[in-house]
Amino acid sequence: MHIAVLASHFGSTLQALLDAHHAGRLAVTPRLVISNNSGSEALKRAERAGLVALHLSSATHPGPGALDRAIVAALEAHGIDLVVLAGYMKKLGQGVLERYSGRILNTHPALLPKLGGKGMYGNRVHEAVLAAGERESGATIHLVDSDYDTGAVVAQVRVPVLPSDDAEALAERVKQAEKQLLIETLDALGRGELTLPS
Ligand code: GRF
Repeated sequence: MHIAVLASHFGSTLQALLDAHHAGRLAVTPRLVISNNSGSEALKRAERAGLVALHLSSATHPGPGALDRAIVAALEAHGIDLVVLAGYMKKLGQGVLERYSGRILNTHPALLPKLGGKGMYGNRVHEAVLAAGERESGATIHLVDSDYDTGAVVAQVRVPVLPSDDAEALAERVKQAEKQLLIETLDALGRGELTLPS
């Protein structure tokens, strides 16, 4: 099973997948990385790993539907079976959503359906968890539909919120668990031990 990873910025989640694959712990093959950000660390990580790294954005593809079509074309050209959004900050177009319906996953650093939606990303999520006095947080892998963070949940991991936590400390704990969850989920999919909800 060939996967594409879409990432906007740092790409530490992408790196965790690349490392797991290199170590033989990931039964899917990362083939293609797409970023909307030409200067992203994610693209550099992909290049260093010898993957195809594409900058596709509304700057490279202006005009209605052009970016959506370019993303579909790239995914098809590289024989992609499954798309993984790992810190991708843009909404996908209707073409990709339809062509890869049921085969696009996103990872979100909270226990959806709590604390998802537009604007809920990065430390804002963890600040909201702390402000709500939650005793636990976690991460969710879910199918992507046309809204933010609303598709069917595929896997979740829980982590404790400690009394001493600030947003940074909580973010770090969630990120470690999130990466492990994503690796395990993709590995299980690749091995046929897990099937995505339809
Ligand atoms: C992850 O926590 C993911 O849930 C969120 O963005 C973060 C990605 O960070 N959507 P990085 O770019 O992989 O370092």
